[in-house]
Amino acid sequence: MTNPIDEYAATAEFYDHIGVYRERQDVNFYVARAQQALGPVLEIGCGTGRVLIPTARAGVQITGMDLSASMLSYCRARLARESAEVQSRVQLTQGDMRNFELNQKFHLITLPFRPFQHLLTVTEQLACLHCMQRHLAPEGRVIVDVFNPALPYLINEKYFEESEPEPEFTMPDGRKVERRFRLTARDHIRQVNDVELIYYITHADGRQERLVHAFAMRYFFRFEVEHLLARAGFRVEALYGNYDKSPFDSKNSGELIFVVRKSA
Ligand SMILES: C[S@@+](CC[C@H](N)C(=O)[O-])C[C@H]1O[C@@H](n2cnc3c(N)ncnc32)[C@H](O)[C@@H]1O
Repeated sequence: MTNPIDEYAATAEFYDHIGVYRERQDVNFYVARAQQALGPVLEIGCGTGRVLIPTARAGVQITGMDLSASMLSYCRARLARESAEVQSRVQLTQGDMRNFELNQKFHLITLPFRPFQHLLTVTEQLACLHCMQRHLAPEGRVIVDVFNPALPYLINEKYFEESEPEPEFTMPDGRKVERRFRLTARDHIRQVNDVELIYYITHADGRQERLVHAFAMRYFFRFEVEHLLARAGFRVEALYGNYDKSPFDSKNSGELIFVVRKSA
């Protein structure tokens, strides 16, 4: 493929060090589903392998696809530190979830930690879902997760100010990094927020640096996703509001986790 713009290039090196990512409670959920699939798994938007590598360690054959060359390079480096057996279970490929052909059918296709929210338009979302349909074995499942938008997040002006920093972390070369978050625009018609993740870096010699990872993020409501899935030939088998598999309930659920199958 021609080289796409790599939104993650400037900050991919930090991904595996970020506390809120390291502490996410989704890995066991995805590993268990992958083991239950009893066949090859495709992880779309696999990033640096946060979920992919534990899945391969658990004995599952898994293909990881990501648009970002930089995220994939960190995934490859991480994989290179695994045993030959674990490495042999993994295929990594650069690809775009809106248009891919892997010439293989999978028992499970996942998009852990919201890659689907990078798809801003219905045309892109359907293109991705149709690609997944073609790559899914007849009895296979797809798991799509997105965040459940809390109303204050959609309307409160405070989110335009930089948040308090997340806990500081230290890179292997000694740089200290603090990250903050802010919105720079809201579009309620397109359901898109422009987001900035802002990294404040202190180098060993005291020099300060500010790096910004800016991107647009689509938000979805529950029934909208159900309708999209139906248009692409899927039916919802389960809808969870969290990775402990509690059922979706709009009061307490931070996540919308759809487990879907091909419609009959
Ligand atoms: C928040 S990260 C999640 C990474 C990983 N799944 C995890 O759980 O840590 C989102 C990933 O989606 C990837 N992504 C964004 N748009 C994509 C596209 N059109 N096709 C494939 N991957 C894409 C990004 O490069 C990034 O690695």
